[in-house]
Amino acid sequence: MRKRIQWLEDAVFYEIYPQSFKDTDADGIGNINGITEKLPYIKELGCNAIWLNPCFDSPFGDAGYDVADYYKVAPRYGTNEDIVRMFMEAHKLGMHVLLDLVPGHTSWRHPWFVESMKAQKNEFTDRYIWTDSIWESPEGYGSLRGISDRDGSCLVNFFTHQPALNYGFYKIDRPWQQSMDSEGAIATRNAMKDVMRFWLSKGCDGFRVDMAGSLVKNDEDGKGTIALWQDIRSFLDESFPEAVLVSEWGEPDKSIEGGFHMDFLLHFGPSHYNDLFRCEKPFFGGEGDASEFVEKYLENYAKAAGRGLICIPSGNHDMDRLARTINGDKVKIAFAFLLSMPGAPFIYYGDEIGMRYVENLTSVEGGYGRTGSRSPMQWDDSLNAGFSDADGKNLYIPVDPKADRPNVKSQKTDDTSLYSEVKKLIAIRQSHKALKNSGEIKFIRNGAEGEPLVYMRSCEEERIIVALNPAGKDQVLQTDGECSEVIYSFGGTPDFSAGKCRIKRGSAVFIKIS
Ligand code: GLC
Repeated sequence: MRKRIQWLEDAVFYEIYPQSFKDTDADGIGNINGITEKLPYIKELGCNAIWLNPCFDSPFGDAGYDVADYYKVAPRYGTNEDIVRMFMEAHKLGMHVLLDLVPGHTSWRHPWFVESMKAQKNEFTDRYIWTDSIWESPEGYGSLRGISDRDGSCLVNFFTHQPALNYGFYKIDRPWQQSMDSEGAIATRNAMKDVMRFWLSKGCDGFRVDMAGSLVKNDEDGKGTIALWQDIRSFLDESFPEAVLVSEWGEPDKSIEGGFHMDFLLHFGPSHYNDLFRCEKPFFGGEGDASEFVEKYLENYAKAAGRGLICIPSGNHDMDRLARTINGDKVKIAFAFLLSMPGAPFIYYGDEIGMRYVENLTSVEGGYGRTGSRSPMQWDDSLNAGFSDADGKNLYIPVDPKADRPNVKSQKTDDTSLYSEVKKLIAIRQSHKALKNSGEIKFIRNGAEGEPLVYMRSCEEERIIVALNPAGKDQVLQTDGECSEVIYSFGGTPDFSAGKCRIKRGSAVFIKIS
């Protein structure tokens, strides 16, 4: 049985996209020292854990998800010493830091790949997945072809400059496919363990793992990939039992079986996450339908229950900003949901002030449509919104040009701001065990069109009903107990009488039930 990690019980994560958070050396791009400087801000908001997007040396063809050196902080962000200092400062504040591990592929500029492209056999020949002839491309995958002396095509995982590392095939149906226990596949696995050992020894608390579910190929049911992660987990249990793993997998039954503590609810695939926040009529926009989300969520919850957590992010660097589809007070109701669900919540930097999706940007660093969600953090109303002292035209992505762009400074002093609401919600979550990450959930109303979304969070000590009614109609709820306390309300306090409760339209309430 995997060790229970105490700090995960009340972890509330803040995702930092390092390029865009805070620039302390006026070169127009964020850096590690900027993050260290802003740790107290994150702490004050109430977040006690960080997921840092890739910060390793890279040609940045995919924002750093194309690693060229797993052992070195990208010079534009600072040095390894800077990040170690950041870990230490975070720990002093009682915070934990997860790095982003990209085990599935590297940049084509990675020295391993440069060696792997050579015709002469060497240590890295089998580090990546190659066919044995340039005329054969792997079915169902993109590939790199005609770029090496070596005869063969190399599988890619995402963009064509991201060759896939070789962890072997679960089922082998071509002669060039290697097994999971082949020498090359084992060497790759060990190389990734070395990377993990290196950063864990330097003080990071674990990893968010990129594309964690797709490492072993020809592995339809995930059995090979699960076994691979189980092996990595036993290595961690021996050497770094406290190391936390969070997966970008979206199938908690598999990821948790593999040894991950938490899995993300993804914005792609079958989760129906987008029904809530990002579609034509999102539930939290007031007109949508949450029922299919609830159905899927419950399926996953049953699979993960008691073993691991499902994390629901406010957004991330791959999807549109929350504030692109939901606005005004509705965003507060969305946060009342995000901060009252089981599993560790993840807040994408700037979502706590309602940062907008910046329209019409030219793609930067392989962002394409994602670029608008990656613009610099808006700290105040000074030059470049306080992100950087560089000349505005030298910012690597421009700041939201709108005159009324939100910023931290003004929202901090405004009790009615989104920032203040998010801060309040985190504090309420942290002071009620039932609302924390492992508290149970039972849905009472499923948010079908026009309906509210209502659920009970509970633990041995308390029961709390969360009622979210973003739609335009008041709703009456039957409660199976008496309300003993309204612990949170936004958009109007509910009226009670004899086990019934009227929930105002456009409101969110948390009610303690006796
Ligand atoms: C993940 C990352 C994304 C990246 C891709 C390839 O989905 O979140 O930003 O482009 O993997 O590594």
